[in-house]
Amino acid sequence: MKFFIDTANLEQIREAQELGVLDGVTTNPSLMAKEGIRGKNNILKHYVQICEIVDGDVSAEVIATNLDDIIREGEELAELHDQIVVKVPMIRDGIKAIKYFSDIGIRTNCTLVFSAGQALLAAKAGATYVSPFLGRLDDISTDGLQLIAEIRQIYDNYEFETQILAASIRHTMHVVNCAKIGADVITGPLSSIDGLLKHPLTDSGLAKFLEDAKSF
Ligand code: E4P
Repeated sequence: MKFFIDTANLEQIREAQELGVLDGVTTNPSLMAKEGIRGKNNILKHYVQICEIVDGDVSAEVIATNLDDIIREGEELAELHDQIVVKVPMIRDGIKAIKYFSDIGIRTNCTLVFSAGQALLAAKAGATYVSPFLGRLDDISTDGLQLIAEIRQIYDNYEFETQILAASIRHTMHVVNCAKIGADVITGPLSSIDGLLKHPLTDSGLAKFLEDAKSF
């Protein structure tokens, strides 16, 4: 299972990388805006900086929504660094673009996926990753984990190679449940990964060991 961090914040990416378990980064226009990154050149530079920190894949999202512009933008992003994965929204021209990119060897992440049917289409088009947004489904009283399970079943039925990138992860139990279901990747905030570390019995057990070790 791969761990991606869902942020454009360089400090947090460095911190996750230093933990030694980071496999990649996902960004989106909202996350870039949150870091105050503006202007095309600064945005492109920022993606390169992220690639230089992390060893794995870095999803960079296109803003265009028509085929020609998605292709132009995606090719430009892909040329930035060999770790870049072009993130394309689940829309009609997005699917056409994913098929085009897949045919020429550019890796893609199909984003804003909220149904099993959309995930099936993304796999048919040859997406490298599909990003079902489980937290946003949970936010509207719909079972996000159930969607991850349905996609797992469909992909296994036909041996699709598209990797399930469980996105919009909000907390540590999302990570654990995605692991049980068999998601290939999770992407979430650093806190969702840090939470895996924690158990009160570990803390109290360690405190006791250190206390007893004083008698050595
Ligand atoms: C995925 O790639 C998206 O960037 C992200 O996971 C969306 O998460 P949010 O619902 O917390 O904004």
